[in-house]
Amino acid sequence: MPEPTAPTASAATGRGWFITLEGGDGAGKTTQAERLEQWLEAHGRQVIRTREPGGTPLGQRIREIVLHERGHVAPRAEALLYAADRAHHVETVVRPALARGAVVLQDRYIDSSVAYQGVARGLGAEQIRTVSDWAADGVTPDLTVLLDLDVTVGRARVTAARGDVFDRLESEAATFHETVRQAFLAMARAEPDRFLVVDAAEPADAVQERVRVAVSGLLGIA
Ligand code: TYD
Repeated sequence: MPEPTAPTASAATGRGWFITLEGGDGAGKTTQAERLEQWLEAHGRQVIRTREPGGTPLGQRIREIVLHERGHVAPRAEALLYAADRAHHVETVVRPALARGAVVLQDRYIDSSVAYQGVARGLGAEQIRTVSDWAADGVTPDLTVLLDLDVTVGRARVTAARGDVFDRLESEAATFHETVRQAFLAMARAEPDRFLVVDAAEPADAVQERVRVAVSGLLGIA
């Protein structure tokens, strides 16, 4: 009998592995991604850590608009700006990295568009997913880590870290962010195989441990 072998390529992407982190402001996505990156590199994996919006030079300019434009931005324009950022990012960064066999660790992806623009802005979850999938040209995550956190606690963390300076999305009312939170949780319930939901109120070490267990299983790290 041959030994069972660890999976060498992802079913979703063909070669590399695509892991996204989602959650509200202050949930700790960046901290968790940094630590996961170090751990994966220590296990000999090539890791590309990136984000949306703003994972490319073009995307940085789009990010500046969506997060800092003064005055009204039509919700559909906002949705299309995120989609434009995504289309360019997937084609020039994510897909090539996956083709090389890298692990792509990404802060936010399509689920953010569905939660923020589709549900909280009221543009329609289905429509925004369709637009986003088109922009992403079918590149879907193998694993999505949802760092779930009470909105008030998340807000307090952001304020403690950098004071009362909020971007366009962060400046939305608590009810908007609560809607976003519930939208993420609903997506996780609908796709339990793709999502890992972690209680982000836990200490960072405990959160990281939960994430590593899931990633070990996915990548076949003993
Ligand atoms: P960012 O500073 O990257 O947020 P965080 O550090 O919390 O990840 O800002 C990204 C903001 O953009 C965040 O408020 C969520 C929002 N966003 C959308 O509304 N739609 C999207 O498709 C994406 C990717 C982000």
